[in-house]
Amino acid sequence: MNKIAVNASKGYDVHIGSHLLPNIGSYIQQMHSCCTVAIISDSNVWPLYGECVTKSLTGTGYKVIHYVIPAGEESKNPQQYMAILNFLAENALTRSDLLVALGGGVVGDITGFTAATYLRGISYIQIPTSLLAMVDSSVGGKTAIDLPSGKNLVGAFYQPDIVLCDISVLETLPKPIFIDGCAEVIKYGVLFDAELFSHLETHGLSFDREYVISRCVALKADVVCADEFDKGLRQQLNLGHTIGHSIEKYSNYTVTHGQAVAIGMAIIAKCSANSGLCDQDVYASILDLLHKFSLPADCAFSAMQIADGALSDKKRLGDTIHLVLPRSIGNCFLYPISVNDLTSFIEKGK
Ligand code: GLY
Repeated sequence: MNKIAVNASKGYDVHIGSHLLPNIGSYIQQMHSCCTVAIISDSNVWPLYGECVTKSLTGTGYKVIHYVIPAGEESKNPQQYMAILNFLAENALTRSDLLVALGGGVVGDITGFTAATYLRGISYIQIPTSLLAMVDSSVGGKTAIDLPSGKNLVGAFYQPDIVLCDISVLETLPKPIFIDGCAEVIKYGVLFDAELFSHLETHGLSFDREYVISRCVALKADVVCADEFDKGLRQQLNLGHTIGHSIEKYSNYTVTHGQAVAIGMAIIAKCSANSGLCDQDVYASILDLLHKFSLPADCAFSAMQIADGALSDKKRLGDTIHLVLPRSIGNCFLYPISVNDLTSFIEKGK
């Protein structure tokens, strides 16, 4: 069992271990006295873990209500957000009550944004149930919903009170969804940690889950602590995402987030290598590792389509987009590029 402190504007701990869910009530009891807990979950996760979490919470004296959204990115929309707000209001939740996000990245993002805005902010807890949510989206307080013109275009920085990563739940995660999360894990290796990258090269999908998840969370905690509001260093976590978000959008979300990030990392590493900004070996190592995890490295969309989709990237400042490029494994940098030059740059990675 590991505990990692996130020293953001509001500090909190991320707990990583096995069989945490049956004891959720006692973790929450240490920080919140009796109140109503509204669990937000999805149609895949709730049937698996809803009862266990509810039992633990009611057993420690909480009143529990729940709201289940359809599983999938399509649920992260303004209508679903309004429906959750209405559910909370109809159940008369007050600022002394609590939201719990029980699910993957979609549930975490929409619950966090609801928590940030309902009654101008109530407390919430992240219980991520996918690898992707454990290593990335549940930590750091980015909350959001999507708009038709792009992902995560409405949101807030709003930190949870605690994050509880029960790695036992990964046992029920379908393999393709686990592999999807591996793209984010690989991202941390490329960005900050050659040792983590090498552990993944050696062990492939049989990597040490507690070590790897804890390492990713620790790396993310350091980044969030240094740049909570995404003004500089935190933008590096966007490695593969500018291109990835564009691919997700163009594919109508049939390309999953992890697949899109994997393709984005491969294309950007190839751009970097072909522009003389990193060695070809760096690109080759990233490509090999993506293959080892059965992640894709290319897509049918043209450089022009990808560049066009990237124009709604949140990190665009006027006519400049900041891409994240690898210099070596474990060392990346922000590369400002004019939107006019983006297509020809991405062309080098296709
Ligand atoms: N998922 C990227 C970030 O939290 O900044």
